[in-house]
Amino acid sequence: MDSHSHEQPRLIDRFGRHVTYVRLSVTDRCDFRCVYCMSEEMSFLPRAQLLTLEEMALLGRAFTELGVTKIRITGGEPLVRKNVIWLFQALGSLPGLKELTLTTNGSQLQRYATALRQAGVRRINVSLDSLDPDRFRAITRVGSLDKVLAGIAAAQAAGFDKIKINTVAMKNRNDDEILDLVQFVVERGMDISFIEEMPLGLITEHDRAETYMSSDEVRARIASRFELVPSNVSTGGPARYWLIPGTATKVGFISPHSHNFCDACNRVRVTTEGRLLLCLGQEHSMDLKRVLRAHPGDLERLKQAIVAAMELKPKGHDFKLNEKPILFRHMSVTGG
Ligand code: GTP
Ligand code: 5AD
Ligand code: SF4
Repeated sequence: MDSHSHEQPRLIDRFGRHVTYVRLSVTDRCDFRCVYCMSEEMSFLPRAQLLTLEEMALLGRAFTELGVTKIRITGGEPLVRKNVIWLFQALGSLPGLKELTLTTNGSQLQRYATALRQAGVRRINVSLDSLDPDRFRAITRVGSLDKVLAGIAAAQAAGFDKIKINTVAMKNRNDDEILDLVQFVVERGMDISFIEEMPLGLITEHDRAETYMSSDEVRARIASRFELVPSNVSTGGPARYWLIPGTATKVGFISPHSHNFCDACNRVRVTTEGRLLLCLGQEHSMDLKRVLRAHPGDLERLKQAIVAAMELKPKGHDFKLNEKPILFRHMSVTGG
């Protein structure tokens, strides 16, 4: 038999990068208002503009038939979308999908951890920027630390293979808690990623250039207490990992400013309105909702549109911390 006949179609962009990872945002809403992510007053999309869960499931099918192996559900806060567990169940059974995962603020995990695990989610990422209740409230504006810690405990009890904490490192906001956060994950056998804040959307509470903390600074801080050994393990995302010998913990660094990772980009995003975004830091996009609504249930048309969109994927982002954000879009619209 011809050796090509079993080959899966692939999504390859103009720079030869293979797209195998899709981040699907299921809502722009959130029960928190993190200061680096949202302004205090946010307006959210009317429900009619959002993709239905059925449309999202069809998208998942189209992408996996095109060689995508990893889907991450994002938000806003994905677990505030009604019936979202149905989507996890629908995607969880897709042939070709090696990993179904989510990024959550943890507030609803007490309720949903078990159902997520049962739907086939093996790894989750939970945002946590502080272990101090007052400070946690200040950073999220409205969030309760107790609830998130209980959610993390529920996730541990539900038996995920790995839980990763995401921390946006900010000078004078949480830089004095870096060691405590690492200690927290080490004690629980979890991983942690420290993220450099990105200029997405206008925010009011701090000046991103002033709170900017490079991954190298964070790493030096951690190395004052923990031994760090560089590794080339990858979770398919942008983090570079260090191991702490004698523990189960990996410490990751996501460094869009100091160590650009666009050359190795393997991902695209779908906004909750069905816009296929080819880069987190650029506006290049393809309107998949239009395709979905003009030709309901037509998988082939959807796949053609996705393949055509690969031509639009730009080389990389162009983030500058000292200027006003070039993108008005807040992180909550894209899911990060
Ligand atoms: P893993 O599967 O654990 O590797 O997850 P991940 O790091 O891909 O996903 P997560 O949702 O935990 O994202 C962590 C941070 O990485 C968020 O702040 C994202 O915005 C950021 N991130 C993910 N992909 C990109 C990217 O392509 N460009 C930029 N600039 N940031 C990204
Ligand atoms: N820069 C960097 N990370 C951000 N996140 C939200 N907004 C920003 C930003 N402007 C993080 C959240 C979450 C992940 C999806 O993105 O903390 O962990
Ligand atoms: Fe909500 Fe996540 Fe944005 Fe915080 S970072 S406001 S938890 S979407």
